[in-house]
Amino acid sequence: MVDTPLRVSVAGMKFENPILLASGIAGVTVKTLTRAIESGAGGVVSKSIGLEPREGYRNPTLVATDSGLLNAVGLSNPGAHAFSEELAAVKGRRLPIVVSIFGGGPVEFGRVVEILDRNEFLAYELNLSCPHVEGVGTEIGHDPEVVAAVVKAVRSRTQKPVFVKLSANTHRTLEVARAAVGSGANGITAINSMGAMAIEVETGRPSLAHKYGGLSGPGIRPIAVARIYELYENLKVPIIGCGGVSTWEHAVELILAGASAVEVGTALYEGYGVFNKINRGVEQYMKRKKYRRVQEMVGLGHKF
Ligand SMILES: Cc1cc2nc3c(=O)[nH]c(=O)nc-3n(C[C@H](O)[C@H](O)[C@H](O)COP(=O)(O)O)c2cc1C
Repeated sequence: MVDTPLRVSVAGMKFENPILLASGIAGVTVKTLTRAIESGAGGVVSKSIGLEPREGYRNPTLVATDSGLLNAVGLSNPGAHAFSEELAAVKGRRLPIVVSIFGGGPVEFGRVVEILDRNEFLAYELNLSCPHVEGVGTEIGHDPEVVAAVVKAVRSRTQKPVFVKLSANTHRTLEVARAAVGSGANGITAINSMGAMAIEVETGRPSLAHKYGGLSGPGIRPIAVARIYELYENLKVPIIGCGGVSTWEHAVELILAGASAVEVGTALYEGYGVFNKINRGVEQYMKRKKYRRVQEMVGLGHKF
């Protein structure tokens, strides 16, 4: 393998570049995940997979606002058994896939891992932060004790790295992160979408069928920067940044805050060219600043 300045290693996972596809935007099938990799993503996170197939909420599930995108998709997914078959079909291709999983507690998370773990993929991302599905997201992900129990259940069933994806919908983000790391998590992903809502003024009707949803895109980036900065200051594990990234400047900002890699979600609606566009910009910035590796930039915002 030729070394390039963009190549990163995060908790032992090797990515060709630090720009990854975030969970839920395109990765319900291995085909869409592969398309993101072929379009220049350094790695991809699957749609969150639960124990049973789930249809999700009825439409409208997506609404554009001037602060970003509001969604209440409702964790629609094919279930662990069907997704395991999808993964089995790409065995031997060594694709940089991270599998996102969710569940109602330690037992369900453990079952999902037992079903998926024999497959070839890089790591797990535990979605403990969905703001709009009752009983599986922030309700358990805001409780450090439950998070600790979930991480232990997963940790005891896999040798793969485990990342915990956190919510910033609580003042306890750091406390939850500490519980996750103390229970064996190898890293933290921050952040998921922020609990939000929109109402149409002419009809008075909430815009989403589920009423409450999650805000993603430009409006949440400063929140992501703050949480990543705080986590970097307080923890020793790698952080994968996520939230409102659509340009190379945004990606570099999250890296300077402390992210070792950066996930892109909402900006994918601009097209799959976003990965190469961001990577080219990061590479030029590194050349201009004389950084030889992405790792040299991680957390540089803390020296002031
Ligand atoms: C339509 C949609 C579906 C999503 N589904 C998931 C999901 O299944 N699991 C998850 O962990 N995050 C999910 N997310 C959250 C994203 O992965 C990401 O954390 C969030 O959108 C913030 O990043 P962004 O501003 O780059 O979109 C979803 C976001 C959107 C917009």
